[in-house]
Amino acid sequence: MNTSALIPVTRTVADLRDIVKKWHADGLKVGLVPTMGALHHGHLSLVNEIASKVDKIIVSIFVNPAQFGENEDLSKYPRQETEDRSKLTETQADLVFAPSVSEMYPDGFETKVAVPKLGKDYEGVNRPGHFEGVATVVTKLILQSHADVAIFGEKDYQQLAVIRRFVKDLNISCEIMGGTLVRENDGLAASSRNVYLSPKERETAGSFNKILKQLVIGAEVGKNLRKLEQDAASELLKAGFTKVDYVSIVDKDTLLPIDKIKGEARVISVARFGNVRLLDNMAINSKE
Ligand code: PAJ
Repeated sequence: MNTSALIPVTRTVADLRDIVKKWHADGLKVGLVPTMGALHHGHLSLVNEIASKVDKIIVSIFVNPAQFGENEDLSKYPRQETEDRSKLTETQADLVFAPSVSEMYPDGFETKVAVPKLGKDYEGVNRPGHFEGVATVVTKLILQSHADVAIFGEKDYQQLAVIRRFVKDLNISCEIMGGTLVRENDGLAASSRNVYLSPKERETAGSFNKILKQLVIGAEVGKNLRKLEQDAASELLKAGFTKVDYVSIVDKDTLLPIDKIKGEARVISVARFGNVRLLDNMAINSKE
């Protein structure tokens, strides 16, 4: 591959800071799109969305060891930086920041950012320590880049809520944007995990979004929320999912379960085929 056709990459915090300093001196607004690489159209749409708010865009690619659990295979996580940089040439991104693990976590590193309540349930149950790992690395990425705006997908709704919380709590001066959840044609949320599905599972996976849509319709007209959650879980199992980790109707900011929809709420859910966990979520807007 002709590497001159790839988007430029920087690997050290010092170089990143120099570049951003020049952009800021020119009065330009800087956006950050944190990723772990293996980019798909969900990631690329975040770049498009942030482009309307900033003049320069940094996409970080860092497979963050701190957010992987012991039984999650960090070494198997897809790493395809050249392909990613090639995909990014089709977008408005200006720079890739791809630090090494030792650049991010030098010897002696021990600080952690924790959001214990928001990070405890849902994904926190299945992945102890995960959100501490996410919060710590995102704090570092924002402080390293001095980005004015950073965007995170609504696909990972609890992650977005955790990030909004610590950015507010720590007075980090970076605007956090939520990026629209990008779906495949049948409604399945785009994810790097979708390739692990067999053709039959992939077909069944399309029903996830439809079952949640039914729940949203019921919730918006005032049906019992606990019953809607139970019905959706049964429907998912009937459709062929092997396990439902949760289907929960929650407050859109605190993620605490609610009994009645006032204004906007959220349904968040994970359904599985074996070890492959698929995430989805949708807004619920009360019609009452
Ligand atoms: P990663 O899984 O690579 O995702 C990077 C960003 O892309 C996240 O903000 C995620 O929510 C978003 N994203 C993924 N699929 C999407 C889809 N279908 N539609 C819209 N956005 C989507 O999430 C992480 O990395 C990491 O935890 C990170 C925040 C980079 C910290 O290490």
